Amino acid sequence: MKILKTISQLRMVRAGVGDLGLVPTMGFLHAGHLSLVARARAENPTVAATIFVNPTQFGPNEDLARYPRDMPRDLALLEAAGCDLVFAPEPADIYPAGFDTVVEVRGVTEGLEGAVRPGHFAGVATVVAKLFNIVQPTRAYFGQKDAQQSVVIRKMVRDLNLPVEVVVAPTVREVDGLAMSSRNSYLTPEQRAEAPALFRALSAAKAAYDAGERDAEALRAAMRSELDGFAVDYVSVADAETLRELNRIDGPALASLAARLGTTRLIDNLPLD
Ligand code: PAF
Repeated sequence: MKILKTISQLRMVRAGVGDLGLVPTMGFLHAGHLSLVARARAENPTVAATIFVNPTQFGPNEDLARYPRDMPRDLALLEAAGCDLVFAPEPADIYPAGFDTVVEVRGVTEGLEGAVRPGHFAGVATVVAKLFNIVQPTRAYFGQKDAQQSVVIRKMVRDLNLPVEVVVAPTVREVDGLAMSSRNSYLTPEQRAEAPALFRALSAAKAAYDAGERDAEALRAAMRSELDGFAVDYVSVADAETLRELNRIDGPALASLAARLGTTRLIDNLPLD
């Protein structure tokens, strides 16, 4: 596995290979990331991962400084997963002095995470556009766990005619249903024991949907009833493509929620289709 720290090193190696699958990450890898690497491995002759904790997608009061990092462990996991290239740049390489360009996807960024985390998706879209330009992947792999992020990236790719196929892979969960996330490492044992309530809430909405319920407010109520005592940022039943809140479900939809346990903010979702 080749580890590349600079854009010029990466470009030189990239020029020597053909189709490439890219797994962009912020490191502190878990089984969810590794499932994306496995999928990329199965579908591409060359697999690259990026490890970059992107400062521009964190708000001023968010967890950039304490975001978990463990480069040696990440590199060992990627090597074991069959990754060929790792691009791990420094912030100053990605955002040199005078950097002044932002990719802003409108519409689908207005609700959900976008409403609670202003500027977050501009940071995500900008860094992902840069990583696509630098690495020039044939396919790029993202997790359904960050459902709105995947919608935003698909929209950016379509709107800007970027020559990349975006693949979104299912959320990987712990045995009790908690969606894998690097941020789970912040949870105290008590909070970790409470956290599966998020998946229970989504499962309640999905069970009602599967039983024929199409009234979106009834599904939101089913989710809220499982989240008593949680600091809930939102529960949502939205159109899966536009992410607009629905009254009635008559096509692919997404049940999603965000809640805080102490200082840790967790998100999760289940597709309704
Ligand atoms: O999902 C993530 O880890 C990040 O948002 C991404 C896509 C790597 C961009 O920094």
